[in-house]
Amino acid sequence: MNATVKKVHNKARRQELRNDDSYIHIMKYMGSKRELLPDIKKAIQQMVPKNSTILDIFAGTASVGAYLKKDYNIISNDIQNYSQIIAKSLIESSSIELTEDIHHTIFMLEKEYLKNKEKLIKLFSKTYDDSNFFVDIKKGEWTDKLREDYLQFTSKFPSPSNKFKTSQKELTLLKDLYFSKDKSTYLQTVFLFSETYFSLEQAMDIDSVRYAIDMVIEDEVLKSVFLSALIYAYSYCSSGTGHFAMFRDLKDLSSIEDTFIYRKKRVWEYFLKKLDQIIEYHQYIPDKTYKTVSYDFSELLNSSEIKDTDLIYADPPYSFVHYSRFYHAIESLVKYDYDIPSFKGRYRSDRHQSPFCQKTNVTDAFRSLFEGAKKNNSHVLLSYSDTGMISLGEITTLLKEIGFKSKVEQIQYDHSTLGRKGHKNNTINEYLIQATLN
Ligand SMILES: C[S@@+](CC[C@H](N)C(=O)[O-])C[C@H]1O[C@@H](n2cnc3c(N)ncnc32)[C@H](O)[C@@H]1O
Repeated sequence: MNATVKKVHNKARRQELRNDDSYIHIMKYMGSKRELLPDIKKAIQQMVPKNSTILDIFAGTASVGAYLKKDYNIISNDIQNYSQIIAKSLIESSSIELTEDIHHTIFMLEKEYLKNKEKLIKLFSKTYDDSNFFVDIKKGEWTDKLREDYLQFTSKFPSPSNKFKTSQKELTLLKDLYFSKDKSTYLQTVFLFSETYFSLEQAMDIDSVRYAIDMVIEDEVLKSVFLSALIYAYSYCSSGTGHFAMFRDLKDLSSIEDTFIYRKKRVWEYFLKKLDQIIEYHQYIPDKTYKTVSYDFSELLNSSEIKDTDLIYADPPYSFVHYSRFYHAIESLVKYDYDIPSFKGRYRSDRHQSPFCQKTNVTDAFRSLFEGAKKNNSHVLLSYSDTGMISLGEITTLLKEIGFKSKVEQIQYDHSTLGRKGHKNNTINEYLIQATLN
């Protein structure tokens, strides 16, 4: 299979996107296609006319749908619920005018946020002071003794690793409130992730903003705008590497010092900053239709939700890593259902296992994607990588077998991976495969 080759410089692309009002960044995401947005748009322009309907079937951060929404009708789908929230805030919100008095809403929000936070501080006052003692330690002042004291402090928190057993009075109360699903005070993040990805105070802030959003905002779309701002704050205040597969184990001074840089970040400030940006990004576009859903791709392809689709943009996972394990914490933030976590990583009980991440199922998953597209009379634009679970050759053979003609563009670009020591860049080959129905 012949492919046209194009080089994309990561840095230049990011710079370009900063000046592009069609793009807005919400969270760090493995496999995000933000650097490829102009290439994806160009390919779509070659395949279907303006005002067609595009289904972004593995939407993730909804970056593609949001980028295309001025020119196309968009249906955004992903199995993860947080994706639908982001898509609602960036895409579906364009179906309405934001007439709310946002300043008044923020004023009301702050009142409710403080109400929940004050209750949390009262309930867990001793633990709060102990946690803040460590947050206040300056860079360069950490010692081995302090690190050990901190590890001792964190070991008292109830978690799957100690079968939720704790001898501390306040932490026993925390566990009891969580297990009883008592939501008079919001405390899901305090229970799940304080002293792992967040300080106790950061976790209290996240829960208190989450509480305020539920108390103040009724409209689903407006709620999604505020939740997306909170997802941003969550993603950028977390002391992890951008995903939530496993928190750092703080095995030496350098890792604890680095972790505590993040512990000083202010959730409320990050939240307000992104809220401003999302509101500024918002545009009322009455002549297009937008829809957001959250289904397994094959279920969606067999439903009537997508009957008007002209083109499916498909960006499936391409490694063995399940998104539900990497982003379970964001899913919990959105669902806020006090799910009982398991394993050291405190994963959700409803983790989706994607067939695209499983060697034995990936070929059938592609077959079902292409057959579903054909059944719906839709062209497909597929993003895939040369490090994927199946080869380009296998994909194009499958497409041909099912009745598509394909054209491949190979894009060489700096791909950011989330490694333990932060972002690493390496050049990889990303394919854009235009599959049109014969
Ligand atoms: C490579 S990411 C998409 C990234 C996205 N294009 C972006 O720019 O943010 C793949 C997405 O597929 C979703 N996914 C995995 N299996 C799925 C399935 N069976 N049905 C629907 N979505 C699925 C994951 O949740 C993940 O968000």
